Amino acid sequence: MKKYAIAAIPADGIGPEVISAGIDVLQALAQRQGNIEFSVQTFEWGSDYYKAHGVMMPEDGLAQLKDFDAIYFGAVGAPDVPDHTTLWGLRLPICQGFDQYANVRPTRILPGIQSPLRKAVPGMLDWVIVRENSEGEYSGHGGRAHKGLPEEVGTEVAIFTRTGVTRIMRYAFQLAQSRPRKLLTVVTKSNAQRHGMVMWDEIAAEVAQDFPDVSWDKMLVDAMTVRMTLHPESLDTIVATNLHADILSDLAGALAGSLGVAPTANIDPERRFPSMFEPIHGSAFDITGKGIANPVASFWTAAQMLEHLGEQEAATVLMAAVEQVCAAGIMTPDVGGKATTREVTQAVVKTILGWQ
Ligand code: NAI
Ligand code: MG
Repeated sequence: MKKYAIAAIPADGIGPEVISAGIDVLQALAQRQGNIEFSVQTFEWGSDYYKAHGVMMPEDGLAQLKDFDAIYFGAVGAPDVPDHTTLWGLRLPICQGFDQYANVRPTRILPGIQSPLRKAVPGMLDWVIVRENSEGEYSGHGGRAHKGLPEEVGTEVAIFTRTGVTRIMRYAFQLAQSRPRKLLTVVTKSNAQRHGMVMWDEIAAEVAQDFPDVSWDKMLVDAMTVRMTLHPESLDTIVATNLHADILSDLAGALAGSLGVAPTANIDPERRFPSMFEPIHGSAFDITGKGIANPVASFWTAAQMLEHLGEQEAATVLMAAVEQVCAAGIMTPDVGGKATTREVTQAVVKTILGWQ
């Protein structure tokens, strides 16, 4: 029996709704597999914790998480707390503190889900976006001077290090190499950003030499939005900076049908620390408490977690069950269905247990 200790941080908005759905599905998988066990400890951190204690998580938060096998995260953000406080108070300190430098975002059109692209069918859009997750535009460098005065200045400095760029390129080339098409697109903006982005391109070319079997090309980020929309079949693995990939992966989620199905994994490839798995979406205030949040993104990211833990079979079973339930039309309203979060979850659980 393999036992995995999972730290669940449901946090805000629809986070608790989709994470509890995901835990039900994980426990069903454990029951089906028979040789794995999940012990889940839930941490009640987030915006309510902030309102009570003035911080999003306790000061020793990272120390409390350090020994878990993985972190299963919901979403942060509350209407009455500034977004930079919630993000920099909880999610980013975990990503950065645990050096989860590879953010991996698979996207494909699941059966039964309609892409807003007229011609797109399942199979035509099957991507993995690799986002640099530790530096770049979100490294937090900058400041404000002359605050509140007419001459106020704000700077937001993007930091690109040779170490940081090399390791994410290496990760992306390896991932591309492991996929059947062995195809990588490096996203850049080196025409307008002539320092960090030019170094990014140079390092991509250097790392590429170690992967002669991977075909790769380079795209400017603005042109990339056009290619994703008009020629989705021409892409497979994609690597981009923290900001560029943040934006492109929201587009990817929308093109695959809904933000509610898009998962993400914040990985420490060296496995020094636990990696963190979460849906891409945020707190979704407009549907919080209505019981209609799409739990598919949180199921898919649970499958990424299982893969990371080496439980490939359980991951495959989980995704097959999700696809079967979607194909049967048991879906939430964001993807055109009428089912509730609970109904989708129960259908996935039943499918998994039915395969026992
Ligand atoms: P959002 O992702 O929360 O919502 C955007 C739209 O997508 C909304 O109409 C929402 O109803 C819909 N949506 C999202 N997830 C869904 C799901 N599972 N099922 C059905 N529909 C879904 O993004 P928004 O509105 O920009 O941000 C709301 C809050 O979330 C803000 O405070 C923001 O800072 C935070 N946020 C947090 C993230 C995180 O924790 N990783 C990521 C993005 C936003
Ligand atoms: Mg985003």
